[in-house]
Amino acid sequence: MFNDQSIIETIQQRTSCRNYRDAPIAEALQTRLRDFLAVTPPGPLGNTPRFELIAATIEEREALRGLGTYGFIKNPPGFVVGTLRDSRELEDFGYLMERIVLFATAHDLGTCWLGGTFTKSRFAARIAATPEERIPAILSIGASAERRTLRDTLLRRLAGSDHRKPWAELFFDGSFDRPLEREAAGDFALLLDMVRLGPSASNKQPWRIARAEGGWHFYVQRTRGYIGSDRSAIPLADLQRVDIGIAMCHWDLTAQEQGMAGTWDVNPPYLTPPDDLTEYRASWRPRA
Ligand SMILES: Cc1cc2nc3c(=O)[nH]c(=O)nc-3n(C[C@H](O)[C@H](O)[C@H](O)COP(=O)(O)O)c2cc1C
Repeated sequence: MFNDQSIIETIQQRTSCRNYRDAPIAEALQTRLRDFLAVTPPGPLGNTPRFELIAATIEEREALRGLGTYGFIKNPPGFVVGTLRDSRELEDFGYLMERIVLFATAHDLGTCWLGGTFTKSRFAARIAATPEERIPAILSIGASAERRTLRDTLLRRLAGSDHRKPWAELFFDGSFDRPLEREAAGDFALLLDMVRLGPSASNKQPWRIARAEGGWHFYVQRTRGYIGSDRSAIPLADLQRVDIGIAMCHWDLTAQEQGMAGTWDVNPPYLTPPDDLTEYRASWRPRA
């Protein structure tokens, strides 16, 4: 729960915001965000990527525009920039950045993950990144100018206009030949629904989750031949591991809120992946 709002409601409320109100983020809210970033815990796989808020004052607006998001994002009042040192950290990066997204959403701020459409070098300079630090993705953040109410968003979700893949393509039971039926998922159906509402690079939804051997196993199914929109970008193959971290975040925060205790590890089950694009990443096991 962030800001007295349930995680489930917050996940349902979130959509990518690409059009912001032309005003800085209120000082008090900037402070809350910075305080939140300052106590970022390690990710579920034990890594500690670094996150920083860049927020503009009115005078700074032009400078921020110059940071370069190629015009896809209108009037961004701020950005959260994250760095990691090693590609092993990609899932934890996704998990922790999405935690920031949900914190922001619960404070009525709009966000959009940006994986390709920004100038890395300028953001790196702005947060004084060391040569070892890479920036896989950033967030734009601020009050939304989109006049969508929470009710509109929920209706849109319910109407299925968010273009998510059906359960049968995403979730499996004991084998990748066998889709998981909602009724068979029991209390875990809610966690899977929350994974499904997550953002993903180019909305490819590469998460595949299989139940087996008493645990829940998270796989990435990579998109063949997709390299991303510009040459400076991190390959989509890597951004899709960030997507898995986002799925882990939605799963974990929902589970915690529902009082379903579990732990993460990297210890693959004896399951045959469906194809050579699908790779095991992590498992969640209920705590006995
Ligand atoms: C790792 C990652 C990178 C993304 N990169 C971009 C981007 O460069 N530009 C953009 O407009 N949206 C980007 N998105 C947002 C997705 O397009 C969006 O999450 C997806 O279409 C689903 O829509 P929703 O977030 O409104 O539910 C990115 C999302 C993720 C998770």
